[in-house]
Amino acid sequence: MSYAPIALSTAFASFDTLWSPHVVTRVNDYDVRVAKVEGDHIWHVHTDTDEFFLVLDGELHIALRDGAGEHSVRLPRGSVFTVPRGTEHRPSAPSGASILLFEPTGTSSVGDRHGDVPDHVDATTGRALPSGADHDGAPST
Ligand code: NI
Repeated sequence: MSYAPIALSTAFASFDTLWSPHVVTRVNDYDVRVAKVEGDHIWHVHTDTDEFFLVLDGELHIALRDGAGEHSVRLPRGSVFTVPRGTEHRPSAPSGASILLFEPTGTSSVGDRHGDVPDHVDATTGRALPSGADHDGAPST
């Protein structure tokens, strides 16, 4: 157990991979994850959990599909949005964005149902921050 705070700027500086959520801390059985994103993610569904998004920088778009058809939400910096469980969604960021996600530990970044995962999307339940970036110190190289 560490009492050291985590600087999000340090966390973001510690990795470059796009669409690759990194776990910065846990709250009970939830992860707080951060990700750098640009271009399109893939259509996917989280059958059993909602998924919370906070846009820290840039602008995130989320396309949604439900029984009523297809919708799109635009989330400028500072916006929050929750994708309801069971709703097909595809995040995208034409000009890039930095986002924070809050979802149960073990939640897959590509959901429970999805098509082929392209190389630019990391299918993960959340990467660990590199050692040194998981507290408020200089990131390791
Ligand atoms: Ni999702």
